Amino acid sequence: MESYIRENQERCEFLVDRRVFTEQEILEKEKQEIFDKCWLYIGHESELPHKGDFKRRKVGGRELLFSRGKDEKIRVFYNSCPHRGAMVCREKGGNTKVFRCFYHAWSFDNCGELVGMPGKDSFSEHFNHDGTKNLQEVYRVESYRGFVFVNFDKLANSLEDYLGGAKEYIDLVADQSELGMEVLNDPQEYSVRANWKLLAENSVDGYHGIPTHKTYFDIVSTRGGELSNGDYEGYGKDLGNGHAVIEYTSAWGRPVARWMPAWGEDGKKEIEKIQKRLTEKFGPERADRIANYNRNIMIFPNLVINDIMAITIRTFNPISPDYMEVTGYSLAPKEENEEIRKRRNDNFLEFLGPGGFATPDDNEALELCQQGFRSNKEVKWNDISKGMNKDKPGSTDEEQIRAFWRRYNKMMTKEVVRGGHYG
Ligand code: FES
Ligand code: FE
Repeated sequence: MESYIRENQERCEFLVDRRVFTEQEILEKEKQEIFDKCWLYIGHESELPHKGDFKRRKVGGRELLFSRGKDEKIRVFYNSCPHRGAMVCREKGGNTKVFRCFYHAWSFDNCGELVGMPGKDSFSEHFNHDGTKNLQEVYRVESYRGFVFVNFDKLANSLEDYLGGAKEYIDLVADQSELGMEVLNDPQEYSVRANWKLLAENSVDGYHGIPTHKTYFDIVSTRGGELSNGDYEGYGKDLGNGHAVIEYTSAWGRPVARWMPAWGEDGKKEIEKIQKRLTEKFGPERADRIANYNRNIMIFPNLVINDIMAITIRTFNPISPDYMEVTGYSLAPKEENEEIRKRRNDNFLEFLGPGGFATPDDNEALELCQQGFRSNKEVKWNDISKGMNKDKPGSTDEEQIRAFWRRYNKMMTKEVVRGGHYG
């Protein structure tokens, strides 16, 4: 089977075949080998606080319904009517006791059971005795620390096995709250004219930070923040199963516990209170890590949790080889006060939002890559070698991006490659 990467440990060289960004045939294979088999993020438990709450979500190419039933249980349904196929739920979200299909008005309760249909007399009394006329559920739905995932492969290993080394980093995010984390408001939705894997790379790419986001760093420095050195004092790490992280010191304020002079004296008092609570609960070392370090976590294949100046949960799905849809959510501790919440929201919009300082820069870079691939097929390879000559790659090296590609290649070719930790 043809490999999409070339890895040469002696020469410290790692290459990726650029066809993976442009070919429809490769996208079709990705759907089968990756999106049909991996755990994919659908939403956060906090998005469905009450019985009857629901959100319509598109995950792994499927139209799904993420819903909390009258029995409190979270379920995920395929959003397709068991009668003749129409999408049953057309709203983006809400609260309901019943989902009613637009086409012939079959109705389903919020646990998915068929509870009504016009012309009932024309159906046998045994109709739906086996439950096949209920909304069909996604068989595998599991959650970790409030993050809910689906898997379309009934035989997949458990979510916890799949997350493996990434759990430690999800814990550092979830532990920021006493009362639990919550997703704020509605998600940001936008699209990028670039291949979905470019965003997976970009999300853990510390190398691009300073050149691409120069405007933002200039602003941070006017507020008293600065980067300690070119490597942000951090590291990049392969977490196994294609997951990866960069963890590095912060140049900016973090609403969890890192104050910025621009936040004023009131902000300082609140931040000190949060720091004290974290230290009491976790000890000084873990509290310092939670408060003062940033984490960009990439969960293979298409979930990113950026725990930086705010927390973003971001997923991205391919529509075609050169076009993806992106959804971004803001996550915060439930108990956060108004002042700190405002800082968080400002940070979120200012850097991470589609109209902020960072996301348009990133999208520009990704679209430039895509244009480069599309128009110059004679140039065949991307280079992802930075830091291969080091025992401990830094956060501006590319070890964490290689982790993605090794896993990708393994799933696409079923070939065992060097250097990963494959469960
Ligand atoms: Fe839904 Fe007929 S397709 S009721
Ligand atoms: Fe960026």
